[in-house]
Amino acid sequence: MATTSGHITSQPVRTIFEAIEARLPSRLELFSRLAKQYSDVTLHNMTVGQVLGGMRGLPCVLWEVSGTEKAGIRYHGKSLKELLEILPRWRGSEQISPEAMIWYLYTGTVPTRTELEVFAADLARRAEPPVEVEEFCDSLSPDIASATQLMMCLSVWGNHSKFSAALVQGAPRAELWRHALEDALDSHSCTSVISARIYANKYRDGRDRTTPLNPQGDIAENFAIRMGRAGDHDFTELIRMYWSLHMDHGANVSAHTMRLSSSAWTDPYLTLASGLIAGTGILHAGAISQALRYNQAMAAALGPEPSAQAVEAYICRTLEKGLVVPGYGHALLRDVDPRLEPITRFINSRPVPASASGEQGHMLRLIGRNSTIVPEILRRRVPRMKSTAPNVDSLSGCLMYAHGLEIDFILLVMGCSRGMGFMTQYVWDRALGLAIERPLSITMDQIMAKM
Ligand SMILES: CC(C)(COP(=O)(O)OP(=O)(O)OC[C@H]1O[C@@H](n2cnc3c(N)ncnc32)[C@H](O)[C@@H]1OP(=O)(O)O)[C@@H](O)C(=O)NCCC(=O)NCCS
Repeated sequence: MATTSGHITSQPVRTIFEAIEARLPSRLELFSRLAKQYSDVTLHNMTVGQVLGGMRGLPCVLWEVSGTEKAGIRYHGKSLKELLEILPRWRGSEQISPEAMIWYLYTGTVPTRTELEVFAADLARRAEPPVEVEEFCDSLSPDIASATQLMMCLSVWGNHSKFSAALVQGAPRAELWRHALEDALDSHSCTSVISARIYANKYRDGRDRTTPLNPQGDIAENFAIRMGRAGDHDFTELIRMYWSLHMDHGANVSAHTMRLSSSAWTDPYLTLASGLIAGTGILHAGAISQALRYNQAMAAALGPEPSAQAVEAYICRTLEKGLVVPGYGHALLRDVDPRLEPITRFINSRPVPASASGEQGHMLRLIGRNSTIVPEILRRRVPRMKSTAPNVDSLSGCLMYAHGLEIDFILLVMGCSRGMGFMTQYVWDRALGLAIERPLSITMDQIMAKM
């Protein structure tokens, strides 16, 4: 067994297949016990308000790899703070290793350093997308938004799904998770590599889109290589931190969309595309670019360092138009999101990067400052808001912008991360044999008839 500190033990090094296989019997046993003994037990009373309110707070999405509470996400029962202490770092890195996080989500165990190295090498070996996908990617017009390009590439990728091929060949149901895992492992590194290719084609005249990857590197380093940022330590660290923090929780629109699509055994690549589509909504991850643009417009109107009174007047004008202020509030987390702490620490421990233009640096300072004054303004102006705390989207998006990423592209960095996290759940959905999602729809008249 791995130690919680991630140090090497004399235990044999497990492959990810073996580590999941070891966990599977106890989880299947629990699933079967819940289904047989407790199927009729009431878990929650559902109200009309919850049906009208987007099913808010209904505990009805079964999730294996994490659970969400008002105070934050718990990953296999552990808080982010605990994970920050126990998950191993990549060589030379201070951030949680995304590979360690992926391993932990799959297995509920902390990888030893050797397991982390072996796992990362396996992902690096799988990092080149199919040639058909690369050629398709290169044929796309740079005018097409980055997120749309990735959705299109993922749709073509579906032709290469090992999961779908296994279905066609009649793979037994109990074995489907293994085929899903093959696709999931391929996708963990390939999605970021094809994203970097989209970036190269759209913003860098194709430069570095074929630069050799480092087989001994981690996903973040290889992403940086293809982004033309090889050797940029701060950028690579930012990506490691961002991916590790944003991988998973089941209670959000993109993860839930992927769950819904995949419950019909949609292949992993098309499932990822569906999550990306859902992520573009401005109430969800689309808020990343929305918040950046909002703050840019604010800076253009008020100057880079507006007074608190000027910010309040600006926000009031937004509210008077019936719009939301992007970057604040959360549909579930009603307190300060624990993910903000490591992001803020990252910002405070590094000056605005030398590569940042004046505008990028100003934006980071503006958003950092607004994060402290806007919650109070919203508390007074929108008292019905359950939480006025800044959400991660505003700050992390701006941080990536300060590190030189174009606004249009930032959603892809988020998409890669959420995709990595959801794929671990995809594999468990198949391993546990979860049913197709099929809630009942109900009309207002039907509700009234019950009153
Ligand atoms: C995330 C969000 C969709 C959650 O919505 P929610 O669960 O309905 O949140 P609440 O229950 O606190 O909302 C209560 C009311 O406050 C409003 N509200 C919430 N956040 C708001 C914001 N940032 N600005 C203005 N009004 C806001 C809601 O629209 C709702 O108004 P209504 O009663 O007229 O429908 C919402 O906070 C929001 O739109 N935030 C801005 C977009 C954003 O940053 N999204 C990224 C989330 S990670």
